[in-house]
Amino acid sequence: MKKLFALSSFCLLMFAAGNSEAQNPKLTLDLTKPGASVSPQLYGLMTEEINHSYDGGLYAELIRNRIFKDNANIPEAWSVIQEGGAKASIQLVAAKPDNVPFEQRRHAINGALTTCLRLMVDTAGGRAGIANEGYWGVPVLPNTTYNASFYIKGTESRPLPGRPWDPKPTVVVPVIADNTAGPITVSIESNDGKTVYASGTINLVKSALWKKYELKLTTAAGIKPTTDARFVISTNRTGVYYFNLVSLFPPTYHNRPNGNRIDIMKLLADMKPRFLRFPGGNFLEGPKLNDAFPWKTTLGPLEGRPGHTGSWGYRPTDGMGLLEFLEWCEDLKMEPLLAVYAGYSLDEDHVDAGPLLKPYVDDALDEIEYVTGDIHTYWGAKRAADGHPAPFKLSYVEIGNEDGFDRSGSYDGRFAQFYDGIKAKYPNLHCIATIGGRDELGVRGKLTIRKPEIVDEHYYRNAWEMEQDAAHYDKYDRKGFKVFVGEWATREGAPTTNLNAALGDAAWMTGMERNSDLVILSCYAPLFVNVNKATATAPKAWQWDSDLIGYDALKSFGSPSYYVQKMFNRYIGNKVVPVAGANIPTQTRPANKRDSAANKMPEPIPAMFYVATQDTKTGKLFLKVVNATGKPQQVDIDLNGAGKLSPEGTLVVIKGDKPEDTNTINDPEKILPVTTKINGISKRFTRTFDPYSVNVVQINKIK
Ligand code: AHR
Repeated sequence: MKKLFALSSFCLLMFAAGNSEAQNPKLTLDLTKPGASVSPQLYGLMTEEINHSYDGGLYAELIRNRIFKDNANIPEAWSVIQEGGAKASIQLVAAKPDNVPFEQRRHAINGALTTCLRLMVDTAGGRAGIANEGYWGVPVLPNTTYNASFYIKGTESRPLPGRPWDPKPTVVVPVIADNTAGPITVSIESNDGKTVYASGTINLVKSALWKKYELKLTTAAGIKPTTDARFVISTNRTGVYYFNLVSLFPPTYHNRPNGNRIDIMKLLADMKPRFLRFPGGNFLEGPKLNDAFPWKTTLGPLEGRPGHTGSWGYRPTDGMGLLEFLEWCEDLKMEPLLAVYAGYSLDEDHVDAGPLLKPYVDDALDEIEYVTGDIHTYWGAKRAADGHPAPFKLSYVEIGNEDGFDRSGSYDGRFAQFYDGIKAKYPNLHCIATIGGRDELGVRGKLTIRKPEIVDEHYYRNAWEMEQDAAHYDKYDRKGFKVFVGEWATREGAPTTNLNAALGDAAWMTGMERNSDLVILSCYAPLFVNVNKATATAPKAWQWDSDLIGYDALKSFGSPSYYVQKMFNRYIGNKVVPVAGANIPTQTRPANKRDSAANKMPEPIPAMFYVATQDTKTGKLFLKVVNATGKPQQVDIDLNGAGKLSPEGTLVVIKGDKPEDTNTINDPEKILPVTTKINGISKRFTRTFDPYSVNVVQINKIK
């Protein structure tokens, strides 16, 4: 039985699906007149730092808490190593900026790297050091070279002389002799320390100044991939060692320094996405007014990136900075869709339109200049200095995110001020508004000062609701704004979605695709999830259930929803072909508490969904059919005005035995699309679509 709403003890009806009609469902495609154009940018990606999307996700850095700012109380993800007779301890230095003890001053590298980790080795006699557990483990692969780097300096332990007005110290700190100069061992090893997968040394020079050391660590061929590993920096000499910006990178996609994980980028590349909406989502805004995505401090060397508070309960490193987002777009041939911060924070505070908002508008203009300006502009030159002289193509700028939550009503004025500022300098840019649409948030406010060209609508629903509303956009007025479905998902399954969600997604996508003269852009959200559960030392990795792509430190996989996205993106024409359906099977959901209170039984809704598009250059037709029922459906297909057709075509199917079926990190390929050659295509043919399936039939013309 198909899983729909959570069943309550008040359920009155059992689920009923299927078609009692004797006649087959029939789909008639009308190829006699060209339909509406399909937006070339219909399907894109939406991303933000949630569920460890970048840190512990796409961004390939393997060291968690590399600049020691994740937690001001403890050196999270770090532990001390003391072996043999060695005695050592670790401590955060200057983690609380308002209360830095006098003897802990002078340990900042610069204004961004203000906290460091101190390793005190009182007694030698064995190995002493610091270990990092990574983002739920350090991934070890055979025959792989990792780039390690860190700042270190060594001293003796001798407290700085107190100032006359300081209270006399009650504890006398023993002086540990400075034996720090010499070889320092760096290794990737098993968590019990018994297996060393790769190691190397640097030669620490005696200096009171911070110095950066870099080295390569290479694993042997033939080792078994594992995440049961840690990164260790160790010594066998006494002294006080200070560390900062500790980094370890595996090979990255396109070998970019500070780049992305290869496996996840390949999953994305396979989707052939057309654009990337970033940096959020809630991550754009932040909890308080000064927590917005700080694009300016995400630029340049990592030494200048302090990270910031973030919106999802952990501190982003901002290693994935503005330029890294843009290079991600470049690598996958996507256009950036830039969301600019519009002066509203998640705690429902806002900056009033007018002079107070002007700096925010100016900041957005600077950001757009960084993306699009040539090297003779101030921010274009900065981008060139950061390593990317060529400007990026940008067509869409979104002003804010989900401003329907702003109950003050300030967005009308804020939107107008941003719109005017952006249009004055960049008349060709399209500005997207976050309210004014017909989604739940959009209807909370009205835009009266400036008319939006494009409105962002968000839909998070269960499969039933998606299927019930699959024809949502059929009814929209064509004279108003265009629609960007900037966040949407069928939320069933966790951490990644299941087949039932994928059926709901596919039903919803048939509606967006059919109406893509109106829905010009769309992107599923959230895109990523680190699937690790809580451990003794790290919290659960994700904050949001029902995500598209899952991973741990070593492996990644696509959910059934991911494969539906891939199928829809890859098999699409440039013109919509009108399809008339007859005898379409229906389904009725079980009644819930609300129905019984209202004494109303649920109405049947369609259980089959479809859309067709044609590539007018090649003549290829793509018919997408979703069978949400648990029965095979024999469908009669009529191709009116099709011309000469090849009897051979292609069928791509994603299906499962039951709606709850899903992919997981340990069973990543349970639900996969299968492509087969099919025969028997003609102007009238019959095709059986499997239970719980999403299908693309590719029909070829003979010229
Ligand atoms: O996609 C998760 C969150 O949902 C986004 O950050 C926010 O825009 C929406 O409420």
